[in-house]
Formats: sequence, structure tokens, C-alpha cells
Amino acid sequence: MQKGIRKKDLLGIENLSRDEIITILDTAVSMKEILTRSIKKVPTLRGKTIGFMFFEPSTRTQASFELAAKRLSADSVNVSSKSSSIQKGETILDTLKNIDAMAIDAFVIRHSSSGIVNFLAQHTEASVINAGDGMHEHPTQALLDIFTMREVFGKIKGLKVLIAGDVLHSRVARSNIIGLKKLGAQVTLFGPPTLVPPSFESIGASVIYDKNRAIKDKDIIMGLRIQRERISESFYPSEREYRKFFSIGKQELSRVKKGAIVMHPGPVNWGVELDFNVIRNNKNVILNQVTNGVAVRMSVLYHFIKVES
Ligand code: CP
Repeated sequence: MQKGIRKKDLLGIENLSRDEIITILDTAVSMKEILTRSIKKVPTLRGKTIGFMFFEPSTRTQASFELAAKRLSADSVNVSSKSSSIQKGETILDTLKNIDAMAIDAFVIRHSSSGIVNFLAQHTEASVINAGDGMHEHPTQALLDIFTMREVFGKIKGLKVLIAGDVLHSRVARSNIIGLKKLGAQVTLFGPPTLVPPSFESIGASVIYDKNRAIKDKDIIMGLRIQRERISESFYPSEREYRKFFSIGKQELSRVKKGAIVMHPGPVNWGVELDFNVIRNNKNVILNQVTNGVAVRMSVLYHFIKVES
């Protein structure tokens, strides 16, 4: 595998070129093959150390990054806000500098504040990978989503993608819109106008408020959770009303294009943005996204951690 990316950090899809995105996706195909072997481990990052700093809850991103590091034979150390000296008043910058002083090669950081990962990257020579920062970006989620779409359809150019739900507060939506546009897909957004403001058209997405029109000709329907942890005011009258007007379920899936798939970055609030009957529908590829997360994160670690040749 050729290393085709000469950047220290992965802070957002915004900072990646189309060719760099394709390089990461292509390498992830090789990484996925490794995961099918009886011994799912290669020595690629032996002797390298990764610091996982998750200051916001995570199931999929943290577990898949940790597995990706293990599959590539890297060592790792975990620091979280609950069990670190942040509880005693130490700043995040001091925390990073202290872990960095233990000879770390890369940090994988999640935080609820938009932009903080970019700030921390300026204070270390180690590579920094954004595992989701506030409402800003979640680049590895978008990469694994795009990888999954490419696996199903064999291409991204020309695909019609609907992102439905709380787009306003979603770093996943932002990263996906930017990445999908770079690769030539058409992105449409759907949800309550309070959570899907028309201003998103300025970054190249169409906005539609009529559900039937929104789902009609789409290849991909990606549901998004209402990001309650980032909402302090009322953006919709009630959950019952949200379900009635904005949920995707059996009725909607009966009207989608043949071959269309349903995606969701997780965690899913079943019964709200996606109806329970989507769980067993054969259009649902949500767990395939999770599987692909390990291969895509192996590719990201491979491309962003410096290895002396
Ligand atoms: N999609 C995603 O970021 O999930 P987690 O919050 O569980 O990592």
C-alpha cells in the first residue's frame, strides 16, 4: 500500500482533497480484507503509540478506533474527562501536553466543543485525528459512510443522498455533505425548518420540507438523531409530532427507489427518526456501517501516523 497523504492531522473532510478521500477509501478496502483473516492483525504500526482522548461519550467511534489500533499492532493509552486529572482542574491543553510528553505518535480526540481539536493539533508534533468535535466535523464517520455507499453502489458520483433529521446540530451531516459533494453526489436535506435551515443550501445541499418529495428518487436515506445534548430550546412541538411528520418507517420505505438503502451514523433513537420496523428491513445497512468503521479507521491511522521507512 502506498502512502498518498502528507498531512499531519485529520481535522475535517473540509481539509481533504477528492484524491485524498479516495486514497483513504481504497486503503480501507485492503484493511477490510485483513479483518476477514483468521489472524486479524498486521505489524504496520508496531512500536507506535496512540492516545485516545474521549471527552464526550462514544460507543462506535471509540471501540472501532481502539480495535483499528490493535489490528495494526499499535499501543494505546486512554484518557477520559471522568477518570483523568481534568476532574482536579487540569486543562485539556495541559492534559494533551502531559500525555504527549510520554512519546505519543498520534492523538484521537473527541470533545463537545467545536474547533477544540484544531486548537489542540497546533500544540503537538503528534498527528491529531478528530473523532467528533461539537457541531463541527466527524471526518471518520463521513469516510465510513461514504465507504459503505461506495461498497453498495460501486461509485459515489451521481448518487442521490437524503440526510433527514437534526442537520443543524450534526457534525456527521456537515462532514458527509462536504465529502459527498467533493465526490460528485447530490445531497438533499429534510427535517423541520428549525433543524434544517435553508442556509445549508450555501454549502451545496438542496433543502426540501415535503417528505414524499424528499425521499422519492433517493439512493440513500440517512437518518439523524435529534442531538438532545446540544439542544437547549424547543426546536419541534413534541416527539409525537416529530414522529408523525419526520420519521422514516415502513410507509416511506415502500415508496423509495428500488435498491435504495437506509443508513444512520448511530446511536439511533428507534421510534423517533427511524421507525422500529426499519431494524429488520433489508434496506437497513446500519450495522454494515459499524463493521466498515474499523477498516476505515485502520486506513486513517495508517495514512496519518508517520512511519519511518
Ligand atoms: N456515530 C458515532 O459517532 O457514534 P458514537 O457516538 O457511539 O461514537
